Formats: sequence, structure tokens, C-alpha cells
Amino acid sequence: MAADERHPMRIMTRRAAGLAGAGWDDEARVAVEANFDDLAAAWHSRVTPERNAVVADALQRGVAGSPGGVVAEVGSGIGTYSPLLAARWDCVVAFDLSLEMLRHSPPAPGHRVQADASRLPLADGAAAAVVLINMLLFPDEVDRVLAPEGLVVWVNSSGEQTPIHLPPDEVAEVLPGEWEGVRSRAGIGLWCVLRRTQA
Ligand SMILES: C[S@@+](CC[C@H](N)C(=O)[O-])C[C@H]1O[C@@H](n2cnc3c(N)ncnc32)[C@H](O)[C@@H]1O
Repeated sequence: MAADERHPMRIMTRRAAGLAGAGWDDEARVAVEANFDDLAAAWHSRVTPERNAVVADALQRGVAGSPGGVVAEVGSGIGTYSPLLAARWDCVVAFDLSLEMLRHSPPAPGHRVQADASRLPLADGAAAAVVLINMLLFPDEVDRVLAPEGLVVWVNSSGEQTPIHLPPDEVAEVLPGEWEGVRSRAGIGLWCVLRRTQA
């Protein structure tokens, strides 16, 4: 097994997506929350022009124009990418499990909400897009909150080396229904933007 596959967050990624082990439970949630609470104060040191460029590329080439509506930025961290999302959607709702990450985020743009991505405080079909940047994928919950024509934006800033990584094919496979879209690479990052073709 490659070292990346043994990374605790890679294991959590596969558990959250229903691809391995015990799935997502209270023990997993507490461990992940504590991990990111500890990392929050120094998270700004991971902000680089290269990582920003991966997200910008996904939005530029994967999302046509400015779709508007509500974008759910799930696992928003310290809010690094919220301004890029606010330029395309009318309302950014940024969810994170870690209160410390939210405390280190700027007050705007975006409404910041502490929530577990496995049960988001959003109505069915409320999101024009769900954006997951280096964030665990909870397939059923993404499917629930996404509007019928909505987009899933998946970004791994360091490609296959990202601890929270799934290949785009696997993202499309674990989401309920049929999906199609665009996938590409930018620098060392990878991304895909998917839309349902069939529920
Ligand atoms: C690797 S960081 C990425 C943060 C940001 N998107 C970035 O790329 O800089 C993952 C983020 O997801 C959050 N997270 C992890 N599991 C979560 C969950 N179940 N629900 C909501 N947020 C979660 C963490 O607290 C952390 O802020």
C-alpha cells in the first residue's frame, strides 16, 4: 500500500465516501474535528498562489459563467477560496466541522456555519453547486442538497498526493445516479466539475 493510502485522512476519505471500513461515525467525526481544530491556527501557511490557481482553473474551465444561486462550500477551512466562489454564485454558505477553522476565517464573503457535512443544515435541492476543495465527500448528502441541474466541484490541490483525495472517476461512481462533466489538471492539482445526467 502506498504511503498516501495509509494517511489517516485518506482512510477517512474512503470511509466518508462509503468505500472502506466503518463508514462515518461519531468517533470519526470527533477525531477529524480535533485534527483540524489543531491545524487551524497555522492553516494560512498552506495558502499559496499555486493552490489558488488550481481552484481558479476548475471554476474558469469547469463552470460556465456565473450560475448564481446558493453555493455550498463544504469543508471551507479558513475561507481561502470563498472570494472565488462569491464571484460566480449569489450566496456562499461555507460549512466546516471545525470551529477553529471558522474562527480563523474572514467575516465575508460567505455565511459561515459549523456543521457536519454528513448532515448539512440545508433543504433538499437548495444548492446550485456543492464545492469540495480538499474535503471529504459524503455522496448521499451531496446528492440530497444539490439542485437537479446543480454542479459538484471537486478539487485536490496536490493531485494524488492530497491526503483527502479521490480520483474523479471514483467521485462520479460513488455519487448516486449518473454524472458527467469536465476533469483536468492544473499544476500538481486535479479537479472535476460534474453534473447529473440521470437521478
Ligand atoms: C484539508 S482541509 C481543506 C480546507 C479548505 N477547503 C482548503 O482547501 O484550504 C479540510 C476541511 O474540511 C473540514 N471537515 C472535515 N470533515 C468535515 C465534515 N465532516 N464536515 C464539515 N467539515 C469537515 C475540516 O475541518 C477542514 O477545515
